[in-house]
Amino acid sequence: METITFHSYRGGVGKTVLSVNTAVKLALLGKKVCLVDFDLRAPSHQSLFASSTFSITPATKSFTGFLVGDHNPQNIVNSTDRENFFCVFSNIEILQQKDSKIRAKLTQHGEGRILAKLFEFIRYCNSQKFDYLIFDCMPGITYRSLDALVVSDKVMVVTRPVKSEISGLRLVISECYSKLEGAQLFSIMNQVEHIEDLAHVPNPLDVNFVKVNILGITKCLEESNTPIPLLHSFPRIPFVTERIYVLDEKDHPFTMEIEEFCTKLIQE
Ligand SMILES: Nc1ncnc2c1ncn2[C@@H]1O[C@H](COP(=O)(O)OP(=O)(O)O)[C@@H](O)[C@H]1O
Ligand SMILES: [Mg+2]
Repeated sequence: METITFHSYRGGVGKTVLSVNTAVKLALLGKKVCLVDFDLRAPSHQSLFASSTFSITPATKSFTGFLVGDHNPQNIVNSTDRENFFCVFSNIEILQQKDSKIRAKLTQHGEGRILAKLFEFIRYCNSQKFDYLIFDCMPGITYRSLDALVVSDKVMVVTRPVKSEISGLRLVISECYSKLEGAQLFSIMNQVEHIEDLAHVPNPLDVNFVKVNILGITKCLEESNTPIPLLHSFPRIPFVTERIYVLDEKDHPFTMEIEEFCTKLIQE
């Protein structure tokens, strides 16, 4: 089994839409997949799957509950009408509880207790013969995102070529990625503007600005102590929203990009 984490310094770069569609596509390709909503502060998978054509047999407990409680891992895994696709949801209510001890357990260092729970879950997934365990991680440098990175075999560093991203990326490379010993690192550049897709002629200054940002991100990734190869560059596709395109929209440009990405991922 391979554990893959989608991570980024900033939110809004595309981790959720990329990881969800990748996980479902891998399942459509015949792999046994478990997808985990590891954005504990802003979970979104439950509502995303509720508005999809997936039929879910709900688990009794959430991932958040598992991390702070003593539930059996099998009680957090939702099964679906695809026999090889499973998903695990997080639950914001636990974080909103008045009980500061529970909040602290989730957000603070915790002397490796949460890490131990993650290893317990990974052991369970291994025993269930999953091919892929995919974490859609919370952004930034937090104890929990570090936990997810530490237990991963592969980390997908998701970036977006905007100026404000570059300094953050530099920081997360030096503070986190470069210190990971076990994981293979890859990058994804998402929401890249393509001039040929436009209905209007853009201002050359803007075109140049985008080029400079792409170069800045590329330099950051290549010049890090541990260079982070680019696995795929996704164009910005108008009207792509938080949906599972690979399931019902086979000819959608986003589906085709995800297919290309999954082919590369399987080969790595
Ligand atoms: N390649 C893309 N083209 C157009 N919109 C995209 C693309 N990737 C992501 N988006 C949109 O950007 C927004 C943020 O994506 P999301 O997956 O929620 O980011 P994150 O999980 O990193 O916070 C969503 O509305 C999503 O639909
Ligand atoms: Mg997200």
